[in-house]
Amino acid sequence: MEAAKNWAVVERQLASLLEGTDVWVSALANASALLMESLEDVNWVGFYLTGRVLGQSVGVDELALGPFQGKVACERIAPGRGVCGCALERDETLRVSNVHEFAGHIACDSESRSEVVVPLHAGGHVVGVLDVDSPSFARFDAVDQAGLEACARVIERLLSIS
Ligand code: SME
Repeated sequence: MEAAKNWAVVERQLASLLEGTDVWVSALANASALLMESLEDVNWVGFYLTGRVLGQSVGVDELALGPFQGKVACERIAPGRGVCGCALERDETLRVSNVHEFAGHIACDSESRSEVVVPLHAGGHVVGVLDVDSPSFARFDAVDQAGLEACARVIERLLSIS
């Protein structure tokens, strides 16, 4: 199937999977499972969230690990650190073809070679990121980026801040 059509299917599946759920942690857990299952050549899919969603001891500009699929990952990411911290700080999707060339990249899984990080919003704030890693260089193109951004828009409807 052509990539753009494929993404339309994934987006529809995600919307129907999340329909009717109001428990964000369950929704994010299932969303990471669906994306991991749907995407080829991907070794990590998951979420990092700020204190606006998580509360507790996490700062509003700090990231802590949320639901994910893949290898054990770092639990906290400081503002501006790594691809995730930069995407959060800039409120901008970062598509990195070669993570080894990204200054400050945090290697959770040494197999990861390319990565896309999409910011998530709630209540007018950027409150987390969706992170997808691949063991291949330049795995993600502009169609994949747009597909993941569309998925992020579906997922962030589930997030609220206190
Ligand atoms: N590589 C990310 C860290 C998270 S892991 O890839 C799961 C980064 O540089 O922010």
